[in-house]
Amino acid sequence: MADPQQIDLRAAVNAISDVIQNRPLPLRIFDQIYMKAGDMVLQSEFVARWADGKTLAFIGDGDAISVCVAYLHARGIVNYGPSDIVVYDFDERICGAVERFADRERLQNLRATLYNCLDAFPGPTDFDCYYTNPPWGASNEGESVCVFMQRGMEAIGYSGEGLVVIADDEDRKWPGRVLAKVQEFAIRSGFFVQKMMPKMHLYHLDDAPDLRSCNLLFKALADNKVPGETKAITEPSRLAHFYGRDNAPRVRYVREKKRLEYGKAPEDDYSLDLLE
Ligand SMILES: C[S@@+](CC[C@H](N)C(=O)[O-])C[C@H]1O[C@@H](n2cnc3c(N)ncnc32)[C@H](O)[C@@H]1O
Repeated sequence: MADPQQIDLRAAVNAISDVIQNRPLPLRIFDQIYMKAGDMVLQSEFVARWADGKTLAFIGDGDAISVCVAYLHARGIVNYGPSDIVVYDFDERICGAVERFADRERLQNLRATLYNCLDAFPGPTDFDCYYTNPPWGASNEGESVCVFMQRGMEAIGYSGEGLVVIADDEDRKWPGRVLAKVQEFAIRSGFFVQKMMPKMHLYHLDDAPDLRSCNLLFKALADNKVPGETKAITEPSRLAHFYGRDNAPRVRYVREKKRLEYGKAPEDDYSLDLLE
């Protein structure tokens, strides 16, 4: 991992603000709940350092940490960062926002692919590392986290490193159960826990504004093998309560309604009372 550097805080916060301005509004029914801005600055600096010089796959990324990481590096606000980044997300609005930002800011090493993680992973499978901030699995004992992690492991061919962002809160019972399940799933898949950074991030989550997440870092064992071919996930036990209690997946893709001017309020959001 690259050494941390002194960063220009004002430039970093303003860069993250550019990214936030470009994000679509979150859809709570799919567990899109965005990380708060200050935590995004610190998280993006950390991810840029962790994945310095490496290829990085994001399995879902409504937060737009991928964009922040690429942008901070391209702007010279940090002098480290991944060599190549691909975002896999089932929301075309998110993929479109990533692609438009990359195009506008000439971030040639950032792309997005429309992909539902319940489908077989389309490849490539030779990324160096993966990142995921999945649905946190409060109602299915972390099974949704395991699904996103499985796709991350496939993206790196079960060799390399992963960073999983999930709930970490001792005042509630379920985050501990999910943390245990996720670590057990990783160990069964030939990975070990390299590091745990507790209670790092807060979210725009109105019914639980104090719920934090941690960074869980995994690394594959040196002789780890791909366990089998990538396949669609259809087992009812893995799909039940995927996005919360009684909220199993029913949607393959969230489609974007094309607009002429992104970043501006749509005209049906407001009306005008004219001067007399
Ligand atoms: C589930 S949210 C978790 C909260 C996170 N802080 C966020 O809002 O990005 C993470 C991302 O996963 C994406 N996602 C949800 N279901 C998915 C699926 N079945 N396949 C691929 N991506 C999915 C969402 O669009 C979102 O960008």
